[in-house]
Amino acid sequence: MKIIIIGAGVAGLAIAWRMARNGTEVLVLDRAQPARGATYASAGMIAVTAETAGAATSEAEFALRSRALWPEFAKELEAISGINISFREDGALIVPASSTEAERLQRQARGGGAEYLTRKETLARAPMLAPDIEGALWAPRDAQVDNRALGPALTNAAIRAGAKLSANEAAVRVEQGASGELVVLSAFRIHRADAVVLAAGAWSGQIGGLAENLPIRPVKGEMLALAPPAPNALPVPLLWGHGIYLVPRNDQLFVGATVEEAGFDTGLSNGARRWLLERAQALVPCLRDWPIREHWAGLRPGTADGLPIIGETGTPGLFLAGGQYRNGILFAPALAEAVERLINKQKVADEIAAFSPGRFDRPV
Ligand code: GLY
Repeated sequence: MKIIIIGAGVAGLAIAWRMARNGTEVLVLDRAQPARGATYASAGMIAVTAETAGAATSEAEFALRSRALWPEFAKELEAISGINISFREDGALIVPASSTEAERLQRQARGGGAEYLTRKETLARAPMLAPDIEGALWAPRDAQVDNRALGPALTNAAIRAGAKLSANEAAVRVEQGASGELVVLSAFRIHRADAVVLAAGAWSGQIGGLAENLPIRPVKGEMLALAPPAPNALPVPLLWGHGIYLVPRNDQLFVGATVEEAGFDTGLSNGARRWLLERAQALVPCLRDWPIREHWAGLRPGTADGLPIIGETGTPGLFLAGGQYRNGILFAPALAEAVERLINKQKVADEIAAFSPGRFDRPV
């Protein structure tokens, strides 16, 4: 069997690695360089608690399934690629900014998998937090990976497994061939395959033909990286509060992220920088003295109902692996597993049914 994956982000590469390793002929096309879109722009969070508050049951189940796969996924990836991806299971502290939010977090703690800490207990884990905090939700399962290393590691592993990668080759159209095969047209070539997986993130809806008008839209996020002036150290757990998160990464602290409906614009704004800094400093006052090292923007793939889209479309052999929105890194291992099983017509986890491309008014 031959498959074409459109999009060499964390999703497309994870699928390529898995399927090539299991003997499938895989070609990955990317409009630019591998893992330089949302995968690179993200904060590498595996935020199974922080990002699933209020999520649909199906999404929460999928998140937990993928979280459980992450340690082995990271270990294998490092062993095969020889690239350290710094998978860290340091947990997260989620600090409420109001009594209503504190009550919500306390309810979340009662649901299991997390614990509500007193102010003293919270400050013992993260002494740099504002001293007047009321308490925080301790989320021990939340983890992170160095997303900027993850992309090269996945690219390396997929290629070693036998996948072919064509960078700077944008797929412009997907069609069905005369013998029922799928045809992918790029500016340079015509490719044919038994199955095609659309994993092009926010760009998935930009491909013509059978993939036209997919219900996936870009949702911009701007982020900052701050550098600790000596002798400050980075916090150990991930910190959330005031609508932002702080991620210790190598020698920097990532501050994310805005959520903006701005089409494909990835321009950087002073307003976003101020917004991020004000909130970061309200959570951790000493950040006032930390210089900005980087400011960047990325595009999340959003859907109308906030759920991912994973499954076969109305066109046999054309699969979607998209709409991960804020959870592209978290979902990658379980997404790769599900897509491989769907293509091979094997049973998938029950929650995948909720992510069907056919659930929209205008089914794909
Ligand atoms: N997962 C974090 C974000 O999308 O901003």
